Amino acid sequence: MIIHGKALINRSIEDVYIEIESGIIKRISKEKPRDKVIEYGDNGTIIFPGMVDIHVHMRDFNQAYKEDFYTGTKAAAAGGVCLVMDMPNTDPKNNSLEVLSKRDKLASKSVIVDYGLYYGLPDEKEALYGYEDIAWGIKIYPEDYNNPLLMEALNYNKEKRLLTVVHPEDPIDIEEGYRGLGCELRAIAKFIELAIKYGYRVHLTHVTSVNSILLSRLAKDHGVTLDTCPHYLLLNKNRRNEAYFRVNPPLRDEYIQENLLRSLSRIRVDAIATDHAPHTLEEKRGDDPRPGFPGLETCLPILITLYKHGYLDIWDIADLYSLGPAKIIGVDKYLGSIEEGKAANLVVCNIKDEYKIDPTEFHSKAKHSPFEGMNAYGKVIATMIRGEFVYRDGDFLVQRGYGDNIRRLTKNNHG
Ligand code: NCD
Ligand code: ZN
Repeated sequence: MIIHGKALINRSIEDVYIEIESGIIKRISKEKPRDKVIEYGDNGTIIFPGMVDIHVHMRDFNQAYKEDFYTGTKAAAAGGVCLVMDMPNTDPKNNSLEVLSKRDKLASKSVIVDYGLYYGLPDEKEALYGYEDIAWGIKIYPEDYNNPLLMEALNYNKEKRLLTVVHPEDPIDIEEGYRGLGCELRAIAKFIELAIKYGYRVHLTHVTSVNSILLSRLAKDHGVTLDTCPHYLLLNKNRRNEAYFRVNPPLRDEYIQENLLRSLSRIRVDAIATDHAPHTLEEKRGDDPRPGFPGLETCLPILITLYKHGYLDIWDIADLYSLGPAKIIGVDKYLGSIEEGKAANLVVCNIKDEYKIDPTEFHSKAKHSPFEGMNAYGKVIATMIRGEFVYRDGDFLVQRGYGDNIRRLTKNNHG
């Protein structure tokens, strides 16, 4: 198969023919081949590398009413996301080898994009050993900070060279009802100290401010990485303080948000992740709304919109939502850019036409969005994963179960 269009390659946009064989990009050429090509050469259409979202909640199990692996990965495919990394705060919790194996079986028969699983801090030491056969790394929540097994898990991950993703909010502050920026900074300080002292490989997820980034940078030579989310870039509590916009960590003051947005092109952020956290509309609209909202179908368009408004370079989009996250989880040999030898994961977007974000059109079960009504660019036209169109012109073209666990994919194909 050969695809023609303007593609994001080597930090620029190039008019190329991308030849794909056995799910891999075999050749990228400027010359028109004799074979038939799939044409995406229209004005305003750009081919990006497939996006990688390292923070999503696919729910399923007893919370399948909020989202399941099929609907969650449909949302991913429609949002140009080819790999989703699933969080373990499920019901039941994904922190035992038994639940982990069950979750992997369920995912592997349901998903239409590739996935990785994070494991929760287990209740017993024994449940740590061998989790990496299925899961990619461990996710640490504030309630885990004082668990004696935390150090055990950090040491285990260090020995096995596995990733630890941290939700940075101090549990004592949370207990006292304070979730301001100080609560986040205290938690970041704790984990960068652990990384510096003991050499743990820590990734700080959903940081909300420039202060958080600068603090984390103190440990950049110790491998500490971080991501932020579209809602911390665009929304703040001054304008969006209703219960409906509840999320953890909470939206910040306007000046904190504005500073983060304006610094994005100048300050090193390793990745953007959505924290796709679906809840039903009823749960969001009740008296005590659940925190979080879906993000998979809006993230790439939001980044493209930020590019259109001059906040980002076009290359930054791929750097922040494809190559950057691929590097964080250590799969950049295989994913993250349009390059010969890498997986044929591609996203075709229309960056010319403006449209309104309308959550009633979402494929996620969570038909709501804090970005509802926003004018955006970058509607996804097609998403290809390992050489197959998974999503094209509004249709899903693969069977449930097409996607696979990144653990198996990297073992089988890329050592
Ligand atoms: C998350 C969820 O709903 O699972 N919600 C959120 O506001 N981010 C929980 C979490 O990741 O802390
Ligand atoms: Zn989350």
